[in-house]
Amino acid sequence: MERFDGYGVLITGAGRGIGAAVARRLADEGARVLVTDVDEERAGATAAAIEGAEAFRCDVGDRASVEAAVAHAVARFGRLDVLVNNAYSCGPDEPLFEDETDEVWARDLDLTLTGAFRCARAALPHLVESGRGAIVSIGSVNGEQDFGNHAYSAAKAGLASLTRTLSGHAAPRGVRVNLVEPGTVHTEGWAGREAVLERAAALYPLGRVGRPEDIAAAVAFLASRDAAWITGVTLPVDGGILTAQLGFRRAVSEHD
Ligand SMILES: NC(=O)c1ccc[n+]([C@@H]2O[C@H](COP(=O)([O-])OP(=O)(O)OC[C@H]3O[C@@H](n4cnc5c(N)ncnc54)[C@H](O)[C@@H]3O)[C@@H](O)[C@H]2O)c1
Repeated sequence: MERFDGYGVLITGAGRGIGAAVARRLADEGARVLVTDVDEERAGATAAAIEGAEAFRCDVGDRASVEAAVAHAVARFGRLDVLVNNAYSCGPDEPLFEDETDEVWARDLDLTLTGAFRCARAALPHLVESGRGAIVSIGSVNGEQDFGNHAYSAAKAGLASLTRTLSGHAAPRGVRVNLVEPGTVHTEGWAGREAVLERAAALYPLGRVGRPEDIAAAVAFLASRDAAWITGVTLPVDGGILTAQLGFRRAVSEHD
């Protein structure tokens, strides 16, 4: 018996990176997964490589598109047990804060925070009906401390708040709501910036940046019955960077 046997799962932004790794992990453990992404081809290629997965185009910026994806998952799987809010937007950080545009600010907030709200709103009645419903959203260490990217970070901090308020609302209805906050993870989103990843790795207490599978394992735990008494929490999966101040330790160490 696998942990997700008989589960119907919907993941946003799952055409590649962390979302695709979560789709693989949950399907490996028995789930039927709707791999959704605004990029239809990407979603199709990822789903084609996963047994028990299907692709569906979904733009989390568009209420009708989100509702169509949820309806499709319920129609195909007969139920929806798990929603993973993974899609996001992170505009380039301007060198000067005064040059940040309204457009980038609004887009990052809309896709990263409001997108998760849209998905949760559409999915909630089905998650209630499931009797074992769970929402796991993907936040970021940016939601906790300054790692740059003003709008994206504000949106991720908002996700932590939404996780708390929604968990209180949903708990009496049998639905759990939790947040995973990754540190730097080597995904396709970092393509062309491998040198940056190498420099970042040196700052991670556990000696490397993350892999998509590191995040998928935490999502699988929080989505599963193993976490049946856990709701409203924010779990950093970050190689220790939020806790241990490696740069400071090196600066003051008398042994280096
Ligand atoms: N990679 C990291 O270093 C890192 C660190 C912390 C948090 N995260 C978070 O992890 C999650 C996944 O990151 P990733 O690095 O795997 O991303 P990625 O850029 O590799 O993939 C994101 C996917 O989202 C899709 N997408 C973009 N806009 C969308 C929309 N409007 N609707 C639906 N899908 C859309 C893209 O097409 C893409 O396939 C995000 O929430 C991100 O903030 C990533």
